[in-house]
Amino acid sequence: MPHDFMPGLAGVPAATSSISDVDGQRGVLEYRGIRVEELCAKSSYLETAYLLLFGHLPTPSELQRWTNDVTHHRRIKFRIIDLMKCLPEQGHPMDALQAAVAALGMFYPGRNVKDIENNYWSAVRLVAKLPTIVAAWARLRHGDAPISPRDDLGFSENFFYMLTESVAHPLWSEIFDDCLILHAEHTMNASTFTGLVTASTLADPYTVVASSIGALKGPLHGGANEEVVVMLKDIGTAGKARSYVEGSLSNKKKLMGFGHRVYKVKDPRATVLQGLCQSLFKECGSSPLYEVALEVERAAGELLKGKGIYPNVDFYSGIIYDKMGIEIDLFTPLFAMSRVSGWLAHWLEQLRENKLFRPDQIYSGEHNRPYVPIDRR
Ligand code: SDX
Repeated sequence: MPHDFMPGLAGVPAATSSISDVDGQRGVLEYRGIRVEELCAKSSYLETAYLLLFGHLPTPSELQRWTNDVTHHRRIKFRIIDLMKCLPEQGHPMDALQAAVAALGMFYPGRNVKDIENNYWSAVRLVAKLPTIVAAWARLRHGDAPISPRDDLGFSENFFYMLTESVAHPLWSEIFDDCLILHAEHTMNASTFTGLVTASTLADPYTVVASSIGALKGPLHGGANEEVVVMLKDIGTAGKARSYVEGSLSNKKKLMGFGHRVYKVKDPRATVLQGLCQSLFKECGSSPLYEVALEVERAAGELLKGKGIYPNVDFYSGIIYDKMGIEIDLFTPLFAMSRVSGWLAHWLEQLRENKLFRPDQIYSGEHNRPYVPIDRR
C-alpha cells in the first residue's frame, strides 16, 4: 500500500530508538533520558559518549576501561598522515576528514559487523581517532608536522594540545568538552539517517561514519556553524544586524543558524552555548561577534515572529570556537568528532534488528517510449 510522499521524510519515523529524544515544542533534548543541560553540568564528553553507545552511565571501572581504551587508540597510522599530505592544502577539512576516515577502515578489521567485540574496538578507534585526524589536517595544510597525542591529557585537553602543542587553560577544555556533549547526538538528523542507511547494508563502521561525515558537511546541516561566523563577520557591527536580516529575508535567503525541522522554539543547545560564551568571555574578554549575534537574534525574532524560526545549535557555537582561535573551516569537523558517538550509537542499535533501508518512490516519468536512433534526433 503506497504511503503518502513526505518531502525530506518530514515527520516520518525511520526507526525506533532509545538513544535520544527531542521535544520540539518544549525545547527539550535528552540523551538516554537524561537532559543535555544536566550532562553538560555534571558529565564529560567521554562519559556521555559511553552513555550514548552502551545505554547507561558507566560504573567507575567501566569508565576507567573506556577512557583507557580511547586514550590508547588516539594515534593514527603513518599512511593516513601520508594520505593527508597528498591532499590539496586548500581543500576543506571535512573532505580531508571523510577521506581519512574512509581509509581508516583499510587498516582495521570491521567487515564482520556481527562481531560484538570487534564492533566495540571499531567504536573506540573512531571516537579516539577523529580528533587526531582533524588536528593533523589543521597542521599539515599549513606545512606543519602533526603533533602526537599525549596519553596524560584528557579528551578535550589533548585535542587542543594536538592543535597547538600547548595545554589549554582548564576552563577552555571544560567549555570545549561541553560543546562536544551538546553536539554528540540528535535523534534522526540527516547525517545520522545517512549513516543508518549505510549501516543497514552491513557496511563496516568506518564506511558508515565516512558517509555521515559527507551529509554533515552541507550548509543546511552541520556546515551551518561555519556559515554563521562568516555571516556575523560579514555583518561586522551590531548596528548593521537588522538591515542584514531584513535584506536576507526579503531576498528569501535563509539565515544560517536559524530554524529547525523539529524545534519550533529556541534550540536548548543554543541557550546552553550562550551560557558557555559568557563563561569564556569572563576569562578572556568578550567577542564582538556575540554582540552582532544578539542583534541578529533580536531582529529575526521580530521579523520572523510566529514562524517558529529560532536560533539552533549552530548559531552560537562558532563564536566560542572563534574566540578560542580555532580556524572557521574546522568548525564542522569539530561537530563531526563529537557526533561520531551518536552516529555509532545508532549504528549499534540498527544492527540489533537490521532491515535494509530501501524506500519507495512515486514515479513521475513516462512509459514505453521508443528508442530514437541518433540520426533522427
Ligand atoms: C543542524 O536535524 C537535526 O537535528 C540537525 C541538527 C543536529 O543536531 O543534528 O540540529 C544540526 O543541522 C541544525 C540546522 C543547521 N542549519 C541551518 O542553520 C541552516 C538554516 N536553516 C534552514 O535551512 C532550515 O531551518 C532547516 C534546513 C534547518 C530546516 O528546514 P526545513 O524543516 O526543511 O524547513 P523549510 O526549509 O521547508 O522552511 C520552512 C519555512 C520556509 O518558509 P516558506 O517558504 O514556507 O515561507 O521556514 C522558512 C523557510 O523559508 N525558514 C527560514 C529558515 N529556516 C526555515 N527562513 C529564514 N531563515 C531560516 N533559517
